Amino acid sequence: MFIGLDLGTSGVRALLVDGNGVPVHSTEAALTVSHPHPGWSEQDPASWIAAARTALGELVRIRPQAMARLRGIGLSGQMHGATLLDETGAVLRPCMLWNDTRSREQAADLDAQPAMRAVSGNIVFPGFTAPKLVWVAQNEPEIFERIATVLLPKDYLSFWLSGQLASDMSDAAGTAWMDVGARAWSPALLRKSGMRADQMPDLFEGCDVIGTLRADLARELGLPDDVRIVAGGGDNAAAACGVGALTEGDGFVSLGTSGVLLAARSGFAPKPESAVHTFCHAIPDTWYQMGVIMAAADSLNWLAGITGSTPSDLTRELGPDLHPPSRLRFLPYLSGERTPHNDSDIRGGFVGLDIATTRADMTRAVLEGVSFALRDNLLALQSTGTRLTRLLAIGGGAQSRYWVELLATVLGMPIDLPEQGDFGAALGAARLAICGVTGAAAADVMTKPPIARTIAPQADLCAAYAQAHAAYAASYRVLKAMP
Ligand code: XUL
Repeated sequence: MFIGLDLGTSGVRALLVDGNGVPVHSTEAALTVSHPHPGWSEQDPASWIAAARTALGELVRIRPQAMARLRGIGLSGQMHGATLLDETGAVLRPCMLWNDTRSREQAADLDAQPAMRAVSGNIVFPGFTAPKLVWVAQNEPEIFERIATVLLPKDYLSFWLSGQLASDMSDAAGTAWMDVGARAWSPALLRKSGMRADQMPDLFEGCDVIGTLRADLARELGLPDDVRIVAGGGDNAAAACGVGALTEGDGFVSLGTSGVLLAARSGFAPKPESAVHTFCHAIPDTWYQMGVIMAAADSLNWLAGITGSTPSDLTRELGPDLHPPSRLRFLPYLSGERTPHNDSDIRGGFVGLDIATTRADMTRAVLEGVSFALRDNLLALQSTGTRLTRLLAIGGGAQSRYWVELLATVLGMPIDLPEQGDFGAALGAARLAICGVTGAAAADVMTKPPIARTIAPQADLCAAYAQAHAAYAASYRVLKAMP
Protein backbone atom coordinates (compact mmCIF):
# COMPACT_ATOMS: atom_id res chain seq x y z
CA MET A 1 0.00 0.00 0.00
CA PHE A 2 1.13 3.52 -0.83
CA ILE A 3 -0.16 7.02 -0.20
CA GLY A 4 -0.06 10.10 -2.39
CA LEU A 5 -0.29 13.08 -0.04
CA ASP A 6 -1.22 16.20 -1.99
CA LEU A 7 -1.03 19.62 -0.37
CA GLY A 8 -3.41 21.68 -2.49
CA THR A 9 -4.33 25.30 -1.88
CA SER A 10 -7.83 24.43 -0.68
CA GLY A 11 -7.07 21.17 1.12
CA VAL A 12 -4.78 18.26 1.88
CA ARG A 13 -5.72 15.02 0.18
CA ALA A 14 -4.45 11.56 1.09
CA LEU A 15 -4.98 8.93 -1.61
CA LEU A 16 -4.37 5.31 -0.65
CA VAL A 17 -3.47 3.00 -3.55
CA ASP A 18 -2.51 -0.65 -3.73
CA GLY A 19 0.80 -1.96 -5.07
CA ASN A 20 -0.55 -1.75 -8.63
CA GLY A 21 -1.42 1.92 -8.17
CA VAL A 22 -5.17 1.25 -8.05
CA PRO A 23 -6.94 3.78 -5.78
CA VAL A 24 -8.47 2.22 -2.66
CA HIS A 25 -9.70 5.21 -0.65
CA SER A 26 -9.08 8.91 -0.30
CA THR A 27 -9.61 11.44 2.47
CA GLU A 28 -9.41 15.20 2.45
CA ALA A 29 -9.14 17.98 5.02
CA ALA A 30 -9.87 21.58 4.05
CA LEU A 31 -7.47 24.54 4.24
CA THR A 32 -8.21 28.24 4.19
CA VAL A 33 -6.18 31.03 2.61
CA SER A 34 -5.81 34.41 4.26
CA HIS A 35 -5.50 37.68 2.33
CA PRO A 36 -4.44 40.19 5.00
CA HIS A 37 -3.74 42.86 2.34
CA PRO A 38 -4.61 43.16 -1.37
CA GLY A 39 -2.36 40.82 -3.37
CA TRP A 40 -1.25 38.87 -0.28
CA SER A 41 -2.07 35.18 -0.08
CA GLU A 42 -0.86 33.22 2.93
CA GLN A 43 -1.30 29.96 4.83
CA ASP A 44 -0.03 28.90 8.22
CA PRO A 45 2.18 25.81 7.71
CA ALA A 46 0.80 24.47 11.02
CA SER A 47 -2.58 24.20 9.27
CA TRP A 48 -1.00 21.91 6.61
CA ILE A 49 0.23 19.59 9.35
CA ALA A 50 -3.14 19.62 11.10
CA ALA A 51 -4.89 18.82 7.79
CA ALA A 52 -2.38 16.07 6.91
CA ARG A 53 -2.86 14.55 10.38
CA THR A 54 -6.62 14.56 9.88
CA ALA A 55 -6.46 13.09 6.36
CA LEU A 56 -3.96 10.34 7.36
CA GLY A 57 -5.80 9.64 10.62
CA GLU A 58 -9.07 9.19 8.70
CA LEU A 59 -7.41 6.66 6.38
CA VAL A 60 -6.18 4.67 9.38
CA ARG A 61 -9.67 4.79 10.93
CA ILE A 62 -11.47 3.73 7.74
CA ARG A 63 -8.88 1.31 6.26
CA PRO A 64 -6.89 -0.02 9.25
CA GLN A 65 -5.82 -3.28 7.61
CA ALA A 66 -4.64 -1.68 4.40
CA MET A 67 -2.81 1.05 6.33
CA ALA A 68 -1.00 -1.60 8.39
CA ARG A 69 0.63 -2.63 5.09
CA LEU A 70 1.68 0.91 4.15
CA ARG A 71 5.16 1.02 2.58
CA GLY A 72 5.56 4.52 1.26
CA ILE A 73 4.17 8.06 1.15
CA GLY A 74 4.86 10.31 -1.87
CA LEU A 75 4.26 14.05 -1.71
CA SER A 76 2.84 16.54 -4.16
CA GLY A 77 1.67 20.08 -3.72
CA GLN A 78 1.09 23.67 -4.63
CA MET A 79 4.34 25.12 -5.95
CA HIS A 80 6.38 28.28 -5.33
CA GLY A 81 5.36 29.03 -1.70
CA ALA A 82 8.07 30.25 0.68
CA THR A 83 8.11 28.43 4.02
CA LEU A 84 10.81 30.06 6.15
CA LEU A 85 12.44 28.08 8.97
CA ASP A 86 14.92 29.13 11.63
CA GLU A 87 17.82 26.93 12.68
CA THR A 88 15.63 24.90 15.03
CA GLY A 89 13.21 24.12 12.20
CA ALA A 90 10.53 26.51 13.56
CA VAL A 91 8.39 28.45 11.08
CA LEU A 92 9.25 32.18 11.03
CA ARG A 93 6.16 33.64 9.33
CA PRO A 94 3.07 32.48 7.39
CA CYS A 95 3.88 30.91 4.03
CA MET A 96 3.56 33.30 1.08
CA LEU A 97 1.74 31.24 -1.55
CA TRP A 98 2.06 30.80 -5.34
CA ASN A 99 -0.73 33.32 -6.00
CA ASP A 100 0.69 36.01 -3.69
CA THR A 101 1.66 38.97 -5.88
CA ARG A 102 3.10 41.40 -3.32
CA SER A 103 6.61 40.87 -4.68
CA ARG A 104 5.85 41.87 -8.26
CA GLU A 105 8.41 44.69 -8.24
CA GLN A 106 11.10 42.45 -6.77
CA ALA A 107 10.24 39.85 -9.47
CA ALA A 108 10.59 42.45 -12.24
CA ASP A 109 13.96 43.58 -10.82
CA LEU A 110 15.28 40.02 -10.68
CA ASP A 111 13.84 39.20 -14.10
CA ALA A 112 15.67 42.18 -15.63
CA GLN A 113 19.02 40.53 -14.77
CA PRO A 114 20.01 38.46 -17.83
CA ALA A 115 21.41 35.52 -15.80
CA MET A 116 17.99 34.81 -14.25
CA ARG A 117 16.27 33.73 -17.47
CA ALA A 118 19.47 32.31 -18.99
CA VAL A 119 20.13 29.93 -16.07
CA SER A 120 16.64 29.19 -14.72
CA GLY A 121 15.05 28.96 -18.20
CA ASN A 122 12.04 30.92 -16.97
CA ILE A 123 10.70 34.41 -16.41
CA VAL A 124 10.87 35.31 -12.72
CA PHE A 125 7.09 35.47 -12.21
CA PRO A 126 5.83 37.39 -9.16
CA GLY A 127 4.45 34.14 -7.68
CA PHE A 128 7.85 32.40 -7.73
CA THR A 129 9.85 31.89 -4.56
CA ALA A 130 12.96 34.05 -5.15
CA PRO A 131 11.21 37.47 -5.31
CA LYS A 132 9.32 36.62 -2.11
CA LEU A 133 12.63 36.36 -0.27
CA VAL A 134 13.76 39.72 -1.65
CA TRP A 135 10.48 41.17 -0.34
CA VAL A 136 11.12 39.66 3.10
CA ALA A 137 14.68 41.03 3.11
CA GLN A 138 13.34 44.51 2.33
CA ASN A 139 10.25 44.51 4.52
CA GLU A 140 10.92 42.09 7.37
CA PRO A 141 14.73 42.20 7.76
CA GLU A 142 14.58 40.81 11.32
CA ILE A 143 12.91 37.67 9.93
CA PHE A 144 15.19 37.48 6.90
CA GLU A 145 18.25 37.39 9.15
CA ARG A 146 16.94 34.36 11.01
CA ILE A 147 16.22 32.21 7.94
CA ALA A 148 18.17 28.94 8.11
CA THR A 149 16.15 27.05 5.45
CA VAL A 150 13.52 27.82 2.81
CA LEU A 151 11.15 24.97 2.03
CA LEU A 152 8.43 24.62 -0.59
CA PRO A 153 5.01 23.75 0.87
CA LYS A 154 5.00 19.99 0.24
CA ASP A 155 8.61 19.79 1.43
CA TYR A 156 7.52 21.18 4.78
CA LEU A 157 5.14 18.21 5.05
CA SER A 158 7.93 15.78 4.16
CA PHE A 159 10.11 17.50 6.79
CA TRP A 160 7.34 16.93 9.33
CA LEU A 161 6.97 13.29 8.23
CA SER A 162 10.66 12.38 8.01
CA GLY A 163 12.72 15.08 9.74
CA GLN A 164 14.66 15.52 6.46
CA LEU A 165 15.13 18.85 4.69
CA ALA A 166 14.59 17.80 1.09
CA SER A 167 13.05 18.97 -2.17
CA ASP A 168 12.51 17.47 -5.58
CA MET A 169 13.62 18.76 -8.99
CA SER A 170 10.15 19.58 -10.31
CA ASP A 171 9.13 21.77 -7.37
CA ALA A 172 12.58 23.35 -7.00
CA ALA A 173 12.42 24.40 -10.68
CA GLY A 174 9.73 26.94 -9.72
CA THR A 175 11.89 28.85 -7.24
CA ALA A 176 14.03 30.81 -9.79
CA TRP A 177 17.07 29.57 -7.82
CA MET A 178 17.73 26.51 -9.93
CA ASP A 179 19.75 25.73 -13.01
CA VAL A 180 16.82 23.83 -14.51
CA GLY A 181 18.84 22.28 -17.36
CA ALA A 182 21.53 21.00 -14.95
CA ARG A 183 18.95 19.95 -12.29
CA ALA A 184 20.93 21.66 -9.48
CA TRP A 185 20.68 24.74 -7.25
CA SER A 186 22.48 27.69 -8.81
CA PRO A 187 24.64 29.54 -6.25
CA ALA A 188 24.80 32.46 -8.72
CA LEU A 189 21.00 32.80 -8.90
CA LEU A 190 20.66 32.34 -5.14
CA ARG A 191 23.09 35.22 -4.57
CA LYS A 192 20.90 37.53 -6.66
CA SER A 193 18.18 37.35 -4.01
CA GLY A 194 20.60 37.39 -1.10
CA MET A 195 20.35 33.66 -0.46
CA ARG A 196 22.95 30.90 0.02
CA ALA A 197 23.07 27.26 -1.07
CA ASP A 198 23.24 26.13 2.59
CA GLN A 199 19.73 27.58 3.07
CA MET A 200 18.37 25.18 0.44
CA PRO A 201 17.22 21.63 1.16
CA ASP A 202 18.98 18.69 -0.54
CA LEU A 203 17.67 18.01 -4.04
CA PHE A 204 16.22 14.65 -5.07
CA GLU A 205 14.51 13.21 -8.11
CA GLY A 206 10.76 12.80 -7.55
CA CYS A 207 10.98 9.03 -7.16
CA ASP A 208 13.87 9.09 -4.65
CA VAL A 209 13.36 7.98 -1.06
CA ILE A 210 14.32 10.89 1.18
CA GLY A 211 13.87 9.19 4.56
CA THR A 212 11.63 7.13 6.82
CA LEU A 213 8.49 8.13 8.70
CA ARG A 214 9.50 9.48 12.12
CA ALA A 215 9.07 6.82 14.80
CA ASP A 216 6.97 9.04 17.08
CA LEU A 217 4.64 9.93 14.22
CA ALA A 218 4.34 6.29 13.14
CA ARG A 219 3.31 5.43 16.72
CA GLU A 220 0.89 8.35 16.98
CA LEU A 221 -0.81 7.58 13.65
CA GLY A 222 -0.72 3.81 14.16
CA LEU A 223 1.42 3.17 11.08
CA PRO A 224 4.23 0.65 10.46
CA ASP A 225 7.71 1.76 11.55
CA ASP A 226 9.40 1.47 8.16
CA VAL A 227 7.25 3.67 5.92
CA ARG A 228 9.47 5.37 3.33
CA ILE A 229 8.94 9.02 2.45
CA VAL A 230 9.40 9.71 -1.28
CA ALA A 231 10.26 13.18 -2.60
CA GLY A 232 7.31 13.48 -5.03
CA GLY A 233 6.66 16.50 -7.22
CA GLY A 234 5.10 19.91 -7.70
CA ASP A 235 1.38 19.59 -8.42
CA ASN A 236 1.57 19.84 -12.21
CA ALA A 237 4.50 17.43 -12.57
CA ALA A 238 2.72 15.02 -10.22
CA ALA A 239 -0.53 15.38 -12.20
CA ALA A 240 1.46 14.56 -15.34
CA CYS A 241 2.66 11.37 -13.57
CA GLY A 242 -0.98 10.69 -12.67
CA VAL A 243 -2.12 10.77 -16.32
CA GLY A 244 1.01 9.17 -17.79
CA ALA A 245 2.23 12.34 -19.55
CA LEU A 246 5.93 11.39 -19.57
CA THR A 247 7.22 11.58 -23.12
CA GLU A 248 7.30 13.98 -26.05
CA GLY A 249 3.80 14.44 -27.52
CA ASP A 250 2.02 13.68 -24.21
CA GLY A 251 0.08 16.56 -22.70
CA PHE A 252 -2.94 17.64 -20.76
CA VAL A 253 -5.16 20.63 -20.30
CA SER A 254 -6.42 21.29 -16.80
CA LEU A 255 -9.58 23.34 -16.31
CA GLY A 256 -9.09 23.86 -12.59
CA THR A 257 -9.20 27.09 -10.57
CA SER A 258 -6.26 28.11 -12.72
CA GLY A 259 -5.77 26.67 -16.20
CA VAL A 260 -2.75 24.67 -17.31
CA LEU A 261 -1.69 23.40 -20.72
CA LEU A 262 1.22 21.01 -20.17
CA ALA A 263 3.50 19.11 -22.52
CA ALA A 264 6.15 16.56 -21.48
CA ARG A 265 9.60 17.14 -23.03
CA SER A 266 12.55 14.77 -23.42
CA GLY A 267 15.03 17.65 -23.33
CA PHE A 268 15.47 21.13 -21.84
CA ALA A 269 14.25 23.64 -24.45
CA PRO A 270 13.49 26.85 -22.58
CA LYS A 271 11.96 29.89 -24.22
CA PRO A 272 11.29 32.31 -21.38
CA GLU A 273 10.23 35.18 -23.65
CA SER A 274 7.13 33.14 -24.56
CA ALA A 275 6.14 33.18 -20.85
CA VAL A 276 5.99 29.39 -21.02
CA HIS A 277 7.25 27.64 -17.87
CA THR A 278 10.06 25.13 -18.46
CA PHE A 279 10.46 22.93 -15.39
CA CYS A 280 12.07 19.60 -14.48
CA HIS A 281 9.63 16.70 -14.60
CA ALA A 282 9.30 14.55 -11.48
CA ILE A 283 11.06 11.68 -13.27
CA PRO A 284 14.78 11.77 -14.14
CA ASP A 285 16.16 13.23 -17.40
CA THR A 286 12.77 14.64 -18.34
CA TRP A 287 11.33 18.15 -18.38
CA TYR A 288 7.93 19.62 -19.09
CA GLN A 289 6.64 22.88 -20.40
CA MET A 290 3.39 24.55 -19.53
CA GLY A 291 1.38 27.64 -20.04
CA VAL A 292 -0.53 28.80 -16.96
CA ILE A 293 -3.59 31.06 -16.89
CA MET A 294 -4.66 32.35 -13.51
CA ALA A 295 -8.46 32.07 -13.77
CA ALA A 296 -9.94 29.13 -15.74
CA ALA A 297 -12.80 27.48 -13.82
CA ASP A 298 -12.36 30.41 -11.44
CA SER A 299 -13.79 32.72 -14.14
CA LEU A 300 -16.93 30.60 -14.31
CA ASN A 301 -17.04 30.34 -10.51
CA TRP A 302 -16.90 34.13 -10.37
CA LEU A 303 -19.82 34.48 -12.82
CA ALA A 304 -21.79 31.88 -10.87
CA GLY A 305 -21.10 33.76 -7.65
CA ILE A 306 -22.27 37.14 -8.85
CA THR A 307 -25.33 35.76 -10.66
CA GLY A 308 -26.38 33.62 -7.69
CA SER A 309 -26.05 30.44 -9.72
CA THR A 310 -23.71 27.44 -9.90
CA PRO A 311 -21.16 26.66 -12.61
CA SER A 312 -23.04 23.53 -13.68
CA ASP A 313 -26.38 25.40 -13.91
CA LEU A 314 -24.72 28.08 -16.00
CA THR A 315 -23.25 25.61 -18.50
CA ARG A 316 -26.50 23.61 -18.60
CA GLU A 317 -28.31 26.76 -19.74
CA LEU A 318 -26.28 26.69 -22.97
CA GLY A 319 -27.90 23.48 -24.23
CA PRO A 320 -26.02 20.60 -25.83
CA ASP A 321 -24.94 22.13 -29.16
CA LEU A 322 -21.87 24.27 -29.64
CA HIS A 323 -22.81 27.80 -30.72
CA PRO A 324 -20.77 29.91 -33.14
CA PRO A 325 -18.48 32.47 -31.43
CA SER A 326 -20.42 35.08 -29.51
CA ARG A 327 -20.18 38.81 -30.20
CA LEU A 328 -19.70 39.42 -26.50
CA ARG A 329 -16.03 39.06 -25.57
CA PHE A 330 -14.65 38.16 -22.14
CA LEU A 331 -11.03 38.65 -21.07
CA PRO A 332 -10.35 36.24 -18.20
CA TYR A 333 -7.63 38.24 -16.43
CA LEU A 334 -9.51 38.31 -13.11
CA SER A 335 -6.29 37.61 -11.18
CA GLY A 336 -3.78 38.96 -13.70
CA GLU A 337 -2.14 36.63 -16.22
CA ARG A 338 1.02 34.56 -16.56
CA THR A 339 1.21 32.99 -20.05
CA PRO A 340 1.59 34.68 -22.49
CA HIS A 341 1.45 38.18 -20.96
CA ASN A 342 3.38 37.92 -17.66
CA ASP A 343 1.17 40.70 -16.31
CA SER A 344 -0.01 40.44 -12.72
CA ASP A 345 -1.58 43.94 -12.91
CA ILE A 346 -3.90 43.38 -15.85
CA ARG A 347 -7.57 42.81 -15.03
CA GLY A 348 -10.37 41.28 -17.09
CA GLY A 349 -13.43 42.63 -18.78
CA PHE A 350 -16.48 42.10 -20.94
CA VAL A 351 -16.49 43.92 -24.27
CA GLY A 352 -19.65 44.29 -26.34
CA LEU A 353 -22.36 44.14 -23.66
CA ASP A 354 -25.78 44.81 -25.19
CA ILE A 355 -29.08 45.78 -23.61
CA ALA A 356 -30.27 42.34 -24.74
CA THR A 357 -27.29 40.43 -23.25
CA THR A 358 -28.47 37.53 -21.10
CA ARG A 359 -26.79 35.50 -18.41
CA ALA A 360 -26.36 32.65 -20.91
CA ASP A 361 -24.59 35.03 -23.30
CA MET A 362 -22.20 35.94 -20.50
CA THR A 363 -21.57 32.27 -19.69
CA ARG A 364 -20.75 31.58 -23.34
CA ALA A 365 -18.38 34.54 -23.44
CA VAL A 366 -16.64 33.38 -20.25
CA LEU A 367 -16.12 29.83 -21.56
CA GLU A 368 -14.87 31.25 -24.86
CA GLY A 369 -12.53 33.77 -23.21
CA VAL A 370 -10.90 31.06 -21.09
CA SER A 371 -10.62 28.79 -24.14
CA PHE A 372 -9.02 31.60 -26.15
CA ALA A 373 -6.55 32.21 -23.32
CA LEU A 374 -5.65 28.51 -23.51
CA ARG A 375 -5.16 28.86 -27.28
CA ASP A 376 -2.70 31.66 -26.50
CA ASN A 377 -0.93 29.10 -24.28
CA LEU A 378 -0.93 26.48 -27.03
CA LEU A 379 0.64 28.95 -29.47
CA ALA A 380 3.27 29.83 -26.86
CA LEU A 381 4.02 26.13 -26.29
CA GLN A 382 4.23 25.47 -30.02
CA SER A 383 6.79 28.27 -30.34
CA THR A 384 9.14 26.20 -28.13
CA GLY A 385 8.93 23.20 -30.46
CA THR A 386 6.29 21.11 -28.67
CA ARG A 387 4.31 18.85 -30.95
CA LEU A 388 0.94 18.20 -29.36
CA THR A 389 -1.70 16.61 -31.53
CA ARG A 390 -4.21 15.69 -28.85
CA LEU A 391 -4.76 16.50 -25.19
CA LEU A 392 -6.28 14.90 -22.15
CA ALA A 393 -8.68 17.13 -20.21
CA ILE A 394 -8.72 17.10 -16.40
CA GLY A 395 -10.07 19.42 -13.69
CA GLY A 396 -13.58 20.47 -12.69
CA GLY A 397 -14.32 22.41 -15.89
CA ALA A 398 -13.83 19.24 -17.96
CA GLN A 399 -17.18 18.00 -16.62
CA SER A 400 -18.92 20.42 -18.97
CA ARG A 401 -19.28 18.68 -22.33
CA TYR A 402 -20.03 22.08 -23.92
CA TRP A 403 -16.78 23.58 -22.62
CA VAL A 404 -14.65 20.62 -23.76
CA GLU A 405 -16.17 20.69 -27.26
CA LEU A 406 -15.60 24.44 -27.41
CA LEU A 407 -12.00 23.98 -26.24
CA ALA A 408 -11.32 21.22 -28.80
CA THR A 409 -12.65 23.53 -31.52
CA VAL A 410 -10.66 26.55 -30.32
CA LEU A 411 -7.44 24.52 -29.93
CA GLY A 412 -8.04 22.61 -33.16
CA MET A 413 -7.28 19.20 -31.69
CA PRO A 414 -9.19 16.27 -30.19
CA ILE A 415 -9.54 16.15 -26.43
CA ASP A 416 -9.68 12.86 -24.54
CA LEU A 417 -11.83 12.60 -21.44
CA PRO A 418 -10.70 9.95 -18.95
CA GLU A 419 -13.15 7.57 -17.36
CA GLN A 420 -14.36 8.70 -13.94
CA GLY A 421 -11.61 8.25 -11.40
CA ASP A 422 -8.58 9.63 -9.72
CA PHE A 423 -6.00 11.11 -12.04
CA GLY A 424 -4.70 14.15 -10.24
CA ALA A 425 -1.56 15.08 -8.42
CA ALA A 426 -2.28 12.72 -5.49
CA LEU A 427 -2.26 9.71 -7.83
CA GLY A 428 1.00 10.94 -9.37
CA ALA A 429 2.52 11.27 -5.90
CA ALA A 430 1.39 7.74 -4.99
CA ARG A 431 2.90 6.45 -8.25
CA LEU A 432 6.19 8.20 -7.44
CA ALA A 433 6.10 6.47 -4.04
CA ILE A 434 5.63 3.08 -5.72
CA CYS A 435 8.61 3.70 -8.03
CA GLY A 436 10.73 4.96 -5.14
CA VAL A 437 10.04 2.05 -2.80
CA THR A 438 9.87 -0.86 -5.27
CA GLY A 439 12.31 0.36 -7.91
CA ALA A 440 9.66 -0.14 -10.62
CA ALA A 441 10.18 1.81 -13.87
CA ALA A 442 8.14 5.01 -14.22
CA ALA A 443 6.83 3.98 -17.65
CA ASP A 444 5.39 0.76 -16.16
CA VAL A 445 3.67 2.46 -13.23
CA MET A 446 2.62 5.80 -14.78
CA THR A 447 0.27 4.51 -17.43
CA LYS A 448 -2.38 6.59 -19.21
CA PRO A 449 -5.95 6.39 -17.90
CA PRO A 450 -8.68 4.59 -19.83
CA ILE A 451 -10.44 7.09 -22.10
CA ALA A 452 -14.23 7.36 -21.79
CA ARG A 453 -14.76 9.67 -24.79
CA THR A 454 -12.82 11.67 -27.32
CA ILE A 455 -14.27 15.04 -28.23
CA ALA A 456 -13.31 16.18 -31.74
CA PRO A 457 -13.18 19.82 -32.85
CA GLN A 458 -16.38 20.88 -34.59
CA ALA A 459 -14.96 21.29 -38.08
CA ASP A 460 -17.56 23.74 -39.43
CA LEU A 461 -16.86 26.20 -36.56
CA CYS A 462 -13.02 26.05 -36.48
CA ALA A 463 -12.47 28.95 -38.91
CA ALA A 464 -14.98 31.20 -37.12
CA TYR A 465 -13.35 30.46 -33.76
CA ALA A 466 -9.86 31.09 -35.18
CA GLN A 467 -11.08 34.51 -36.31
CA ALA A 468 -12.72 35.20 -32.95
CA HIS A 469 -9.46 34.23 -31.23
CA ALA A 470 -7.56 36.77 -33.32
CA ALA A 471 -10.01 39.49 -32.22
CA TYR A 472 -9.67 38.34 -28.60
CA ALA A 473 -5.87 38.39 -28.79
CA ALA A 474 -5.93 41.98 -30.07
CA SER A 475 -8.05 43.10 -27.09
CA TYR A 476 -5.22 42.61 -24.58
CA ARG A 477 -3.32 45.58 -25.99
CA VAL A 478 -6.45 47.75 -25.85
CA LEU A 479 -7.10 46.76 -22.25
CA LYS A 480 -3.46 47.38 -21.37
CA ALA A 481 -3.53 50.85 -22.91
CA MET A 482 -6.56 51.90 -20.84
CA PRO A 483 -5.72 54.58 -18.26
C1 XUL B 1 2.30 26.44 -11.19
C2 XUL B 1 1.40 27.13 -10.24
C3 XUL B 1 0.21 26.44 -9.76
C4 XUL B 1 0.42 26.14 -8.30
C5 XUL B 1 -0.86 25.92 -7.54
O1 XUL B 1 3.33 27.24 -11.68
O2 XUL B 1 1.62 28.24 -9.83
O3 XUL B 1 -0.07 25.30 -10.49
O4 XUL B 1 1.32 25.08 -8.20
O5 XUL B 1 -1.58 24.89 -7.92
